[in-house]
Amino acid sequence: MQQADIGLIGLGVMGTNLALNIAENGYRVAVFNRTVAKTNEFYADAGDLQDKIIACETLEDLAKNIRAPRPIILMVKAGEAVDEQIAALKPFLAKEDIIIDAGNANFHDTVRRLAELGANDPTFVGMGVSGGEEGARHGPSIMVGGTPESYARIEPVLTAISAKYEGESCSALLGPDGAGHFVKTIHNGIEYADMQMIAEVYGVLRDGLGLTSEAIGKIFDKWNAGPLNSYLIEITAKVLLATDKKTGKPAVDIILDSAGQKGTGRWAAIEAQMLGIPATGIEAAVAARSISSMVKQRAEAEKAYGDLGTAKLSDNSQAFIDALEQGLLAGKIAAYAQGFDVMVGASKERGWDIPLATTARIWRAGCIIRSQFLDQIAAAFEGSEGTNLLLVPAFVERMKSGSKSLRKVVSEASLAGLPVPALSAALNYFDGFRQARGTANVIQAQRDFFGAHGFKRLGEEGDFHGPWSDA
Ligand code: 6PG
Repeated sequence: MQQADIGLIGLGVMGTNLALNIAENGYRVAVFNRTVAKTNEFYADAGDLQDKIIACETLEDLAKNIRAPRPIILMVKAGEAVDEQIAALKPFLAKEDIIIDAGNANFHDTVRRLAELGANDPTFVGMGVSGGEEGARHGPSIMVGGTPESYARIEPVLTAISAKYEGESCSALLGPDGAGHFVKTIHNGIEYADMQMIAEVYGVLRDGLGLTSEAIGKIFDKWNAGPLNSYLIEITAKVLLATDKKTGKPAVDIILDSAGQKGTGRWAAIEAQMLGIPATGIEAAVAARSISSMVKQRAEAEKAYGDLGTAKLSDNSQAFIDALEQGLLAGKIAAYAQGFDVMVGASKERGWDIPLATTARIWRAGCIIRSQFLDQIAAAFEGSEGTNLLLVPAFVERMKSGSKSLRKVVSEASLAGLPVPALSAALNYFDGFRQARGTANVIQAQRDFFGAHGFKRLGEEGDFHGPWSDA
């Protein structure tokens, strides 16, 4: 039998869909799963694609059935399972072979795994894959970290299976070792911020204006035809317009308001903090998920402080709804600016050189944050790599007007007692970022007062201390 072009280990939901995607694109794929029954079931269900699939019962069998140098994708649970799989696979592989971790790995693990491989071991690639089940099956966004040689070996398959934006593949090599998984982490952080801002706007419409889920769904549906057009806005309209079969109520109205999180958003916030790059939109979104999980305490606190009630906003005009649309867009610009800035920081720290325009381009389709907006971001970074998005001329113009709407939304919501943590974080970041003379002079004076840490004087070189003993 003709050997496979690529191997895949782990036939869970993502692995199954990715393997079918590979086969459907004409590449032969050898698959392995720890439970042989699952492999057999997958093969039996593969229909017309069976002739492109080689079902393997052992890792040795898997290795034998792939054309060298063998690329093998791991689609197993992030964490220890990846280390175990690498250890189990190594004896059957050669130096030229490539193990590709396609899970949501922490990039520190990716860097470590690569370092742990010896000179005669196969090489290792960390590959972020976004788009969920549907993306894996019909075209995900693929963020690769590895060597150009490894990428060249897998590039034809990845280009074929990835999502396409106006014919352009949404797969790219973004840097060495952990760069691909790092970019995926930041993607997820931005995803958290985007989702949170949407949820906040939903909250203002529901609790501030007293609108029903259906009415809000229609607003989001309309917005999806405008500048906010994106997968997340599209699915928000859909979920708001869906009906719960059991009760006949809007589906979102019967869902517990406690958000889960697997950790990638938190990693993004942690990495931003470690790099000293502000990513307050992501941080606010992570914290909001944590507050959402404090279900009992929130109920107690509502009793203690009183119910917010509904229809609290003084301004319920169409102009205010338009401001919500523009404000959400401005909030997104600030949060995305932060996410991209974190990548700039990581590139500096690790010598990665993550290409921002390319990253924005491969996020235009396939991934969860896919949108038209990312096409505009990609265009903005062409020739302005490394510049904060808020300083790219096209976005300066957009923020000049958009920030007015964001300010209106945040102030109205705050006055009504409605929480908008990510939107207000975005606004405060924008206001802090655009203020040439900030307030850290006082912090420097305080630090010098209690710890003699010194400060710089305006327009003078050197370190100085203040006249605090006279104070
Ligand atoms: C994607 C998603 C995907 C997954 C997240 C959800 O890009 O396809 O981000 O990776 O849905 O793990 O993360 P939470 O469970 O933390 O929301």
